[in-house]
Amino acid sequence: MDSLKLSTILLSLLSLAIITQAQDPKYLIYSCSDTTTFTRNSTYQANLNLLLSSLSSNSTRNNINGFYNVSAGKDPDEVYGMFLCRGDVSNSVCRDCVNFATKDMLKKCPIGKVATIWYDECELRYSNRNFFSAEYDSPVFFSNINYVTFEPERFNQLVAITLSNISTRAASAPTGDKKFAVQQANYNLQILRTLVQCTPDLPTPDCRRCLAGAISKLGNCCDGKQGGIVIFARCNIRYELYEFYNATAAAEAVPAPPPVALSPPPASGSETRRKGKVDNDLFNCLVAI
Ligand SMILES: *[C@@H]1O[C@H](CO)[C@@H](O)[C@H](O)[C@H]1NC(C)=O
Ligand SMILES: *[C@@H]1O[C@H](CO)[C@@H](O)[C@H](O)[C@H]1NC(C)=O
Ligand SMILES: *[C@@H]1O[C@H](CO)[C@@H](O)[C@H](O)[C@H]1NC(C)=O
Ligand SMILES: *[C@@H]1O[C@H](CO)[C@@H](O)[C@H](O)[C@H]1NC(C)=O
Ligand SMILES: *[C@@H]1O[C@H](CO)[C@@H](O)[C@H](O)[C@H]1NC(C)=O
Repeated sequence: MDSLKLSTILLSLLSLAIITQAQDPKYLIYSCSDTTTFTRNSTYQANLNLLLSSLSSNSTRNNINGFYNVSAGKDPDEVYGMFLCRGDVSNSVCRDCVNFATKDMLKKCPIGKVATIWYDECELRYSNRNFFSAEYDSPVFFSNINYVTFEPERFNQLVAITLSNISTRAASAPTGDKKFAVQQANYNLQILRTLVQCTPDLPTPDCRRCLAGAISKLGNCCDGKQGGIVIFARCNIRYELYEFYNATAAAEAVPAPPPVALSPPPASGSETRRKGKVDNDLFNCLVAI
């Protein structure tokens, strides 16, 4: 366990204050416990503040591969937290996203002990329980509300197969490196884009298992949907029929093999409004956009 020092906190509060305006990350979804709450000025809140400034200050480090986890305080007021930036985002975009998230989260979830917020570029999470233990790690789902109209079963299969393929690739990266992979596939004159990611500290077999678990949950949220996200603490998957990552940057971050083909024509609409869904009451004030 890392321990937090007051000097670090003061320093990071200071640096927060002088950070210049950066482009806001693209907000996707958040979840916030509304039954598990803390009271204002409690020890939990103080620990949470320490945690958030530690996450913010560590996001400026260059050698973390977009990931940092830390805890603050002691049981029963201990707070666990982490951030994970999408594998293709630069250090500066990652840092800006995490900084933004630490503030945005408290606005959206001012007294929740358990919270997760997602942007296109990064994820921030904290909890009064160690979400790295499987027991407390419940998935958050997020799906595109639009359905594919052409051969939905084949689309589901293509999504699952492509995600499985790149899971192997992402998981095989050495521990500590980015465990991240993207892959395109052709679908009905459109391009399916898929992404998988584990936290860099996750060993290969655990990463593979986590991703397989996430893929197996797709039926809970995303059957026939044009896009979907399944988020666990240690891994996440996403697919869409539009470009939601920077393919150039992704190719630089990790090498990508050529696209895979599936089926020919008809056409389908591609409006993207979104809806959130969760399967656990810890995440019962999930807000959709
Ligand atoms: C919390 O602390 C601040 C500053 O110490 C004080 O102004 C505020 O009244 C306190 N709030 C509660 C609910 O105790
Ligand atoms: C990162 O956070 C730890 C506490 O977890 C703190 O001791 C350390 O100084 C931070 N590093 C940076 C660069 O802010
Ligand atoms: C961060 O994660 C590592 C491994 O996943 C774990 O050993 C460590 O205890 C965690 N740190 C904190 C502060 O929770
Ligand atoms: C997945 O990988 C298998 C074997 O490596 C390959 O035959 C198949 O075409 C791939 N499919 C997709 C959708 O990537
Ligand atoms: C994508 O990444 C490349 C390489 O890092 C960068 O030059 C380009 O500006 C990025 N494009 C967008 C739209 O961010």
